[in-house]
Amino acid sequence: MSAEQGHDSQVVLAEPIPDPGIEPHELRITDIDPQAADRVERQVSTMFGLAGLLALGSCVAYFAIPRDATVVIGPLSGNANNLTLGVTLGLALFLIGAGAIQWAKKLMVDNEIAEDRHDAHSTPQQKTEIIDAFSEGVAESGFTRRKMIRRSLIAAMGLLGLPAIVLLRDLGPLPGRVLYNTIWAKGIRVVNDVTLRPIKPSDLVVGQLVNAAPANLEPMLQESHTEYQNAKAKAAVIVVRIEPDKIRTPAGRENWGIDGILCYSKICTHVGCPISLYEQTTHHVLCPCHQSTFDLADGAKVIFGPAARPLPQLPLAVDSEGYLVAQSGFTEPVGASFWERG
Ligand code: FES
Repeated sequence: MSAEQGHDSQVVLAEPIPDPGIEPHELRITDIDPQAADRVERQVSTMFGLAGLLALGSCVAYFAIPRDATVVIGPLSGNANNLTLGVTLGLALFLIGAGAIQWAKKLMVDNEIAEDRHDAHSTPQQKTEIIDAFSEGVAESGFTRRKMIRRSLIAAMGLLGLPAIVLLRDLGPLPGRVLYNTIWAKGIRVVNDVTLRPIKPSDLVVGQLVNAAPANLEPMLQESHTEYQNAKAKAAVIVVRIEPDKIRTPAGRENWGIDGILCYSKICTHVGCPISLYEQTTHHVLCPCHQSTFDLADGAKVIFGPAARPLPQLPLAVDSEGYLVAQSGFTEPVGASFWERG
């Protein structure tokens, strides 16, 4: 109901809009021509059938296409395995959706009905009516009568479950000892990860944090891109300079820092995101993924969030030319916690 309000605040109620009722029902071609209905049934079954084949195809592609194969399309390039999985599964889901829409629009009964509003709570009689209406709907949809559609849909839905099972394989294998070793080793220089310049203690002022990498990473790029990426992902570190009197050094690490300069793994111990947000007044560094917060002045202990252990620390020294170097590799695995770690 609409209302108009005059200058003297008198409210004038307009006439209610009349109920337009239900538009006259129009028969579709598939309602009057059985051949047209059969044609649509074949279309829908074809879409469901193709969806099943694509789901199977995605499983084959998963195993057949090498993980490191790339595909180049114009200026774009990407991983061929991922691209094929995305295209086949995307098309399969699209065809199931398109087939269902075609089935509903062209073949299912489309009588319009008007239902008065009623209480949200259902009486036993209404519940019985709902169950009857559901059964009637199933019968009217032709799901039981149209065997070709029913079988192709059941087959496609069943086959679509296969890629989900196959993709579970990507949850493994367990890391084993792969995270125990990085390319850090005794005497490896610490370099800025952007400029690749070796870092001297005098390059860092108190409060500064630098993203860094081992100097032996760059030569790997010439040999194998994959090896380089794997090594880089595990060896990423942060170097921070803190007022020495603010640092609480864990037992056994008394000589791991140089004049307040400490070095920690950059990989969050929760699930492995790169930590990045540093607050120099509190010495806290935050992981942007799930907000785990580490106190760099206190052995990178976890002070908030889901991470279960401190960031591993890299022991530092200074070489004969005055550059920061590692005293050794990490003394514990970097990255996310995992079952075999203990
Ligand atoms: S990965 Fe860092 S908090 Fe989850």
